[in-house]
Amino acid sequence: MIQPASMIIGTGSCAPDKVLTNSDLEKMVDTSDEWIKERTGIERRHILETEKTNSDLGACAAERAIEDAGLKAKDIDCILVATITPDSFFPSTACGVQAKIGAKDAAAMDVSAACSGFLYGMTLADALIRSGQYRNVLVIGSEVLSRFTDWEDRTTCVLFGDGAGAAVMTESDGTRGLLSSFIKSDGRLGRLLYLPGGGSTHPATHETVDQHLHTIRMEGREVFKHAVRTMVDAAVHGLEKGEVHSDDIDLLITHQANMRIIDAVRERLKLPEEKVFINLQEFGNTSAASIPLALDQARREGRIRPGDKVLLVAFGGGFTWASGVVQF
Ligand code: UT7
Repeated sequence: MIQPASMIIGTGSCAPDKVLTNSDLEKMVDTSDEWIKERTGIERRHILETEKTNSDLGACAAERAIEDAGLKAKDIDCILVATITPDSFFPSTACGVQAKIGAKDAAAMDVSAACSGFLYGMTLADALIRSGQYRNVLVIGSEVLSRFTDWEDRTTCVLFGDGAGAAVMTESDGTRGLLSSFIKSDGRLGRLLYLPGGGSTHPATHETVDQHLHTIRMEGREVFKHAVRTMVDAAVHGLEKGEVHSDDIDLLITHQANMRIIDAVRERLKLPEEKVFINLQEFGNTSAASIPLALDQARREGRIRPGDKVLLVAFGGGFTWASGVVQF
């Protein structure tokens, strides 16, 4: 029996009020509600108001998670923000959240692992708690993908949305917590899903703007194949490491990118449909925010009960992939 070192004691999430539906997108690019629903499962996505930033969204989710944990912001020792759409290159979005929630003197840093970022963050939080470095670690996944989307490219603009989710992790009480986590990468495949411009490879110039280099590019079909294969691999290894059989999983929460990917992963793990939580119809693909957003919604809807074992699985740009088995 695995003895967990850390556990989740509170979750929170935040989505912008503004909604962009598939029929809104029909007016912007050559697409249809029917194509988007059939090929992805997405119906709507939320878009952050122009005057707000990633750290506003992250701070909103963080405050809800801290309240749910029964703590105050001053109790947080370390803030990890998983994101690929930061407020700016530096300072980190985590520092923005630290200031906005008033987590005085907390350590703060961003984690860049695309859609796997939240599980990377949970793995780091677990290690920090396990080592005795920190007591309460706030892990946030927060994204404003709408600001890095090419709204003229129908192959990507229908997919993404904005949102944030957060979890407060602390030392395990010995009965519940993170039973295993598994994180991997393969940087050779980075160019299948990336944002070319703005870094030191292609610093911003008029030309990079004209060439649409500051928005997300993806080879969808290739990414799809890798997503299914690596998410199944991550799930199998995570279960093995946590000494948990797939029959004992009460709920599967995968990264919410495509209904067909989620179905393929579920089928390969031989889990029934009722054991899978899905909210991508409402939010689209929110990258690092997708798992914590779904986890918080599942908890608030009573889909996760004390004692339940939840399998979290993600895949994203990098490529990165990850899993976590959490006993609540
Ligand atoms: O979050 C990180 C991980 N990301 C993912 O996991 C995403 C993985 N990939 C996918 O989810 C899917 O590949 C997509 C949803 C992106 C695309 O679905 P697909 O079934 O792989 O479509 P496709 O790219 O093979 O395109 C099929 C057809 C093409 O037309 P032709 O060449 O067959 O005539 C596309 O031009 O669909 C066309 N198409 C569209 N049609 C209407 C592509 N995008 C659209 C669109 N509306 N928005």
